[in-house]
Amino acid sequence: MNPALTKIGDQMSNLTGVRAIMKDIIETLRADAGQHFINLSAGNPLILPEVEQLWRDCTAELLASSEYGDVVCRYGSSQGYAPFVEAIANDFNKRYGLNLSDRNILVTAGSQTLYFYAANAFGGYTTSGNLKQIVLPLSPDYTGYGGVCLVPEALVAYKPTLDIDADAHQFKYRPDFSQLSITEDTGCVLFSRPCNPTGNVVTDDEVKKIVALAEPFDVPVLIDSAYAPPFPALNFTEMTPIFGDNILHCMSLSKAGLPGERVGIAIGDERWIHVLECFQTNACLHASRYGQAIAAYAINSGRLVEIAETVIRPFYQNKFAVLEDTLNQAMPANLPWFLHRGEGAIFAWLWLQDLPITDWEFYQELKQVGVIVVPGSTFFPGLREDWQHKHECLRISLTGSDEEIVTGMQRLAKVAQDVYQRLIVRS
Ligand SMILES: Cc1ncc(COP(=O)(O)O)c(C=O)c1O
Repeated sequence: MNPALTKIGDQMSNLTGVRAIMKDIIETLRADAGQHFINLSAGNPLILPEVEQLWRDCTAELLASSEYGDVVCRYGSSQGYAPFVEAIANDFNKRYGLNLSDRNILVTAGSQTLYFYAANAFGGYTTSGNLKQIVLPLSPDYTGYGGVCLVPEALVAYKPTLDIDADAHQFKYRPDFSQLSITEDTGCVLFSRPCNPTGNVVTDDEVKKIVALAEPFDVPVLIDSAYAPPFPALNFTEMTPIFGDNILHCMSLSKAGLPGERVGIAIGDERWIHVLECFQTNACLHASRYGQAIAAYAINSGRLVEIAETVIRPFYQNKFAVLEDTLNQAMPANLPWFLHRGEGAIFAWLWLQDLPITDWEFYQELKQVGVIVVPGSTFFPGLREDWQHKHECLRISLTGSDEEIVTGMQRLAKVAQDVYQRLIVRS
């Protein structure tokens, strides 16, 4: 018998976006009847030996220190473990010329939690019954935003414009400022930079324009910097983090090799941080302190930034180059395929314009040749209008080996050719 659930209980016990597809992927891999799948669906970062060693070394330092008992045997403040908060403040003040105090920083159990707090503190119904929207200015964006709001109707995403370089088979999404609406009904704005799934880095000017639209309404703009510099530094193009009165700069240590430890960080004006901190106290008291403690060592010694720049970034940037080169060689030049510019993150985003079948059907056909990617339509949370483009894209993870990426993209090119060919035969 199903348990009797509330509206929220029902909503939260359903998985959204890519997490729903993951069920199909896991079942496919389990049923693997001797067929070896090339799995290019994962969002989980790879374990890079230098990164694992860094966390081992920091753990050894923590174990050898007198701090250990205080870290794991005691409750702490909701704001975060003080030496970690201080490490972030010092590093960011020095690196970006800021003037942060501990009151400008909150540590959460992973950044997904942070978006959950923000989406429900700033978005949803006010006490007077007005609906405050959570605005995603550029769709597609992180699939996890689809599950964070307890009031689903509050989530509103905007279609981008497409900047296409047809000869190079490349494109880039840009915010469509002729459509984007930020008003007194906006509760907060949220986007990832670099973006999961597309690898897009919204430009400095575009960020400033979005922030300027939000400023008159005192709306916080959350810039999800899970892939941004200074760590994990998964930007393959120049980019600078942008700070400001109505910006909440949100970070994660997950792509810097600590996803299991769940460390998310918000940096911003005290009035926003205070709201989110209270939300956290009510929800879970505070984030676990072990990950924060070892990260404080890694940040204070400069090792985290160094490894991010010399190991993590080149590793994934190289994977993107392998993928792009393979597609350039294997995809027929006369097909309308476009790879999103690889500006960061750990994914490639492929658009097959006028694809004769849906992205879900294409995903199924790819499975038949032993390759798993993620159908793109799961990455448009909050976008209500029907848009053919939603069904023409695929997210390809850069977490495969070079050989897997090459073989996977060669097979994908063959499937694409067959699928478009069928269209020609039919018409
Ligand atoms: C853009 C983006 N934001 C947030 C998250 C959530 O990360 P975590 O909760 O591990 O910090 C992810 C995870 O993949 C992500 O890709």
